[in-house]
Parts: sequence; C-alpha cells; structure tokens
Amino acid sequence: MWPCVVSSFSRRLVASLGVCGRRKCCGTAAFMPEAPAFEGVRSRSELRDFSVSDSERFWAAVGNQRLSWISPFHTVQDCDLTQGRIKWFEGGKLNVSVNCLDRHVHTSPDRVALIWERDEQGSEVKYTYRELLEMTCRLGNVLRRRGVKRGDCVTIYMPTCPLAVAAMLACARIGAAHNVVFAGFSADALAERIRDAESNTVITVNQGVRGGKFTELKKTVDEAVQSCPSVQQVLVAMRTDTPVVMTARDVAMEEEMLKEDVVCEPAVMNSEDVLFLLYTSGSTGKPKGIVHTQAGYLLYAALTHRYVFSYHDGDVFGCVADIGWITGHSYTVYGPLANGGTTVLFESTPIYPDPGRYWNTVERLKINQFYGAPTAIRLLLKYGDHWVTKYDRSTLKTLGSVGEPINTEAWEWYHRVVGDGRCPVVDTWWQTETGGICIAPRPSEPDAEIVPGMAMRPFFGIKPVLMDTEGKVLTSNNTSGALCMAQPWPGMARTIRNNHQRFIETYYQPYPGYFFTGDGAYRSAQGYYQITGRLDDVINVSGHRIGTAEIEDNQCSAVAESAVIGFSHDIKGEGVYAFVVLKKNIDIKEDDLSRQLNKMVSKKIAKYACPDVIQLANRLPKTRSGKIMRRVLRKVVERDLDGLGDLSTLDDPTAVQEIVEGHNKNSAQRALK
Ligand code: WTA
Repeated sequence: MWPCVVSSFSRRLVASLGVCGRRKCCGTAAFMPEAPAFEGVRSRSELRDFSVSDSERFWAAVGNQRLSWISPFHTVQDCDLTQGRIKWFEGGKLNVSVNCLDRHVHTSPDRVALIWERDEQGSEVKYTYRELLEMTCRLGNVLRRRGVKRGDCVTIYMPTCPLAVAAMLACARIGAAHNVVFAGFSADALAERIRDAESNTVITVNQGVRGGKFTELKKTVDEAVQSCPSVQQVLVAMRTDTPVVMTARDVAMEEEMLKEDVVCEPAVMNSEDVLFLLYTSGSTGKPKGIVHTQAGYLLYAALTHRYVFSYHDGDVFGCVADIGWITGHSYTVYGPLANGGTTVLFESTPIYPDPGRYWNTVERLKINQFYGAPTAIRLLLKYGDHWVTKYDRSTLKTLGSVGEPINTEAWEWYHRVVGDGRCPVVDTWWQTETGGICIAPRPSEPDAEIVPGMAMRPFFGIKPVLMDTEGKVLTSNNTSGALCMAQPWPGMARTIRNNHQRFIETYYQPYPGYFFTGDGAYRSAQGYYQITGRLDDVINVSGHRIGTAEIEDNQCSAVAESAVIGFSHDIKGEGVYAFVVLKKNIDIKEDDLSRQLNKMVSKKIAKYACPDVIQLANRLPKTRSGKIMRRVLRKVVERDLDGLGDLSTLDDPTAVQEIVEGHNKNSAQRALK
C-alpha cells in the first residue's frame, strides 16, 4: 500500500544518498511516509495542496498511521461548519495516555520523556518514558480508587512539573477530562473555573517556585474551594519541603501514589470523548471553557509538532510555555509525547537568576528546537547580546515564536543573535480554539523563504480565507480582512463547556459556513499571511489573552464606570489602558486609585491583567444607545485623531475632546516620571 515506505533509518539513508531512481517521490516519502499513497503528490507543496483538496484521505492516512487505535475509526469526519458541528474519527477507540506513553515504553523504555528544568538553575531532573508511565499509572490508580470516574473533570492547579504532566495523562488514562488552570490565576478566577467545570477533584502542590519566589498555591486552592460545593477532595503534591495545613478534604498525593500499583488499565475512549477543557478569555466577562476531544486533538498536536519544528527522533524539544496555556498542552505535553520525543518542562522565568537563563538551559540540555514568546524575546534583547553569546547554542536547529505578533526587531535578533543566523524562525499562529498551529513558515520546501514577522503559510489541511466587512471572501492578494477557516481540521475545538450556543455565536455565526478566528490578517502579494491582531475586545498581554470586559467587571468602590483597551507596549506587546470615571464627590489620589485597582484585578483575575495606565475621565464617549465607543478610545491612545471615523452616533461630542485633553495631560505626566 505504501510503495515508498521504508524504515526510518533507511529512509534517512536514502534521502541523504539521493540514490533513488524516483527521487522526488522518495524525497516526499522520506518527508512524510503517508505521501506516496496520495496520487500526483511529488513535492511538499503538492502534498499541502492534496491535504486541502482531499482532506479526508489525507487525515484518514495520517490518523491511521500515527495514532495507536484500540479499534479503528469508520468515519473520517462528520463536520458542518454552518452548524458548528465538528466530529472526527468516529467509531475509533483509543487511549491518549497509551499513545503518549505505553507505545514508546514498548520500543524504548529508557528514552528520556521529560527534562524538568527546575527553577533552581542547574538542577534539572530527567524522567524516562518508563518512569513517566509508572508515575501516570500510580496517579491514575489514586484517582480511580478515590472515585474519579470516566467523564468527570479534574482541575489541575500546578506549576510546570512532571507530576502536572502525569496528572494530565492520568486523567486521560482513566477517561476523566482535565482542566488545567494557570497557577498565576487568583483564588476567585480559579474558583470560577472549578465551578464551571463542576470538578469534584482538584490537584495542586503545597507551594510553587518561580524566579526564586514561592507562591502559596495550596492556600489559594483552600480559598477557592470555599465557594466550590462540587469539590470533594484536593490532592496535594509537595514541590518544596514546607509543610501546609491539611484538612479532611486534602490528600497527600505522593504518599497515596506510593501505595498504588504501577499498572493502570487504560480506559477505552471514543474519539469524540472530552480530553480536556481549557478556559480562555472572550469578549464578555465570563471565560470560555474550550473543549478538545481525544483523537483529533492528539493527532493534530503531534503532526504540527513534527512538521512545523522539523522534530526528529532524538531531538530535545524546549517549549518554555507554562502548562496552564494551550501552548503548554500541545507543545510541551501532547505533541512531543505522542511523537515519542524528549520535552523540556521549564519552571522558571527568562531572567532568573539572570537574563542568560534560556541560553544556559539550551547549552546544558542541548536543546534542538526552542519555542518561546515574543514578549520574552523583546525583554531579553534589551539586556544585550552577551547574555546569549556566552552560551553554546550550536545544538539549536529551529526557533519558534507564539502568542502574539513578533515585531521585526525582535525577529531579527532572535534569528541573528540567538540562532546565529542559521536557524529558521517559525512564527506560529494559532489559538486555544485551533488546538495546534494553523499558520507557520514551515513545513515548506527546505529552502523556501521566510519573511520576518509573518506566520506565512497554512499547515496541512488548513484553508484560511479573509473576509470583507460584508462577509464576502476576499480573493485577491495584498489585502486585509477578518481571518476565517473554510475547512474543518481535526484539532479544532468542539464546543464551549456548558454553552454550545455561545460557541456557535462566537465562531460560526459571524461568517456562516466558516470558523471565525477573531483575528484580522493581511495577505501579501505573494499570498503569505500576517496576523494584524484581534478584532474583538480581547487584549493580548505578553501573549496572554484577557477580555477587556473581564477587567472592567472589577468595580472598586470609588469607580462609577470604566473602559479598558489595549495599547502598544514595548515589552508586553499590548498593555492595559484603563479609562476610569469616578463616582460623584469621590476624592482619591491617583496613586491610591491605581493601588486599589491593581489589588482588585490581581485578586479577581491575575497580576498580568492589571492596568499599565489609568486615565481619569469625567465621562466616556458613548453612542446614543449607551454603548461605549472603544474604537474612539483606541484612536485617541494611538494619537490617530484623523482616524476617529464616524462620530455621528456619539451621544455627546464634547466627551471625545475631554478624553483627548486628558490623554495629552496623562502622557505628559508619565513622560516626566
Ligand atoms: C494571538 C495562543 C500574531 C492571536 C497559541 C490569537 C498571534 C491569540 C500569534 C490566541 C502569532 C497567537 N502572531 N498573533 N504568531 N499566535 N496570536 O488562545 O490574536 O492564548 O487569536 O493561543 O493570540 O491566544 P491563545
């Protein structure tokens, strides 16, 4: 069936010798073993075209080859974008943890699965596939014994560490869904997510350690679960030696794990059973629990990990994202482990103990692919090249960027200094909702150009389109529009937890028949895509999404109303700019107000959502129907007064003048500070 399929060793040999009579075909076969079965596919670009034009055959072949099934699927896909119905690989049964662990333990039990780059520099710990499987099984048995059932949802509030990975995989093993909450979120934010997920079990650690500082994660959980009646038990692992108060509800996790067997029967899961929820911000005050399912998500994470980064057996993959975000799910955990790779769990920060931390880690762990965020790159470039060049980075082969647009200066520095000008930089565009990378410069022909600061090319099976304001598809190049996807792919989100209606309204109603990403994009004359930013009320602070409404919802006693927008920030990409109208007769110093607001936002959400700038105003520009005109506020902050646009619906035009004057005054004061 696969005329050109050869073992991976001889495949590499054939490719390097270039001795095959059917060179082009075998070149493609060496690139992707499934390819020879696709008629007419002789090059990578033909493979890409095929993956879109005959996407069912493409995904059927890749799904059969790359996942280990308990029983095969009978239907490749059953999707209808007009209704927001997405189903892949129905009839198939599998277990995700078996795909990530057992099958690699059978072939190479002593291969390193995880390298835990602990916060304390130079104290990394390695875990083989066998060890990770044992840890996962023990934890799976603890969960099962303690009543966690198939279909339940376990909330995980942990820093990036091996037990967190084992917790995710243990859920997958016994058929429970997981809901990882970023360990920087406050007790209120955690509680909201636990309640929405209806978790009966929470897994945490006594304390987190990051950048040399300790965070009281267990205490935060204690506070959160007070308002979560569904929670029956909290499993507590020990990251540090500091004891914590344990109540009747709490379970010493490692002690329980030691009592368990290292074998845990994997649950037989349907392709479309829920694998996990992950909360992300939208344009209302309530975060959305994005739902991903088993087979399609895993396949898509694995395939993108393999091809976008050109990951090969034996490579060490270093994604420095926290497991609390989708990047940590897809490219620290699921993609690399499904591919039998070695993946780094980075617990620290880019500047701890000093700004050489990333590159010290690259040298010590011999990292081959490094995947990070533009905000960190922008921060590090300010410290100077010597923090990079003093470390050996010769193992690096690919550099990746994710989470927000990477500006040309940062891109060039990343490429020239970090990568010594020899590593391709892949600017990867995707979202929590897309499950994995959708647009990136690679894979492409090996020497195909890469344009700085552009995600460029759609991945296999991805068909992006740009829409004009009337909802018509823009067919020409050198044009901008709303970025939509015209075809389903296995990694896309299936629904929003407890709110399928919101799922449909957000992603499928704006452009019927298409998945709407919420982003704007430009398509260059060459047909390459560049992301221009969010089109909705979502800000991207240091690559972390936050809805303006979520911040505005935090009313403090002095504030009558507020409007929050994103503005261009040197390091963070976007910062938070808050316009605040005080209640009548309130006399408060600006510094005190700012302290109060920051305290409130950190308590309700997380530190990263705190306003960078606060501007007091007498009133906000509103339409006659009372809607705040954020577009106007954005233009004022961008100093684009010519671009204010149509103000005819404005209730009181003098409000704008006041905002402009206030902004000028505010900027002048900040410049003096
Ligand atoms: C933005 C993170 C420009 C975008 C994986 C998207 C990007 C949102 C890029 C998703 C990129 C992500 N260039 N913008 N390479 N990657 N974004 O869900 O606005 O945390 O909609 O997923 O980040 O953020 P999320």
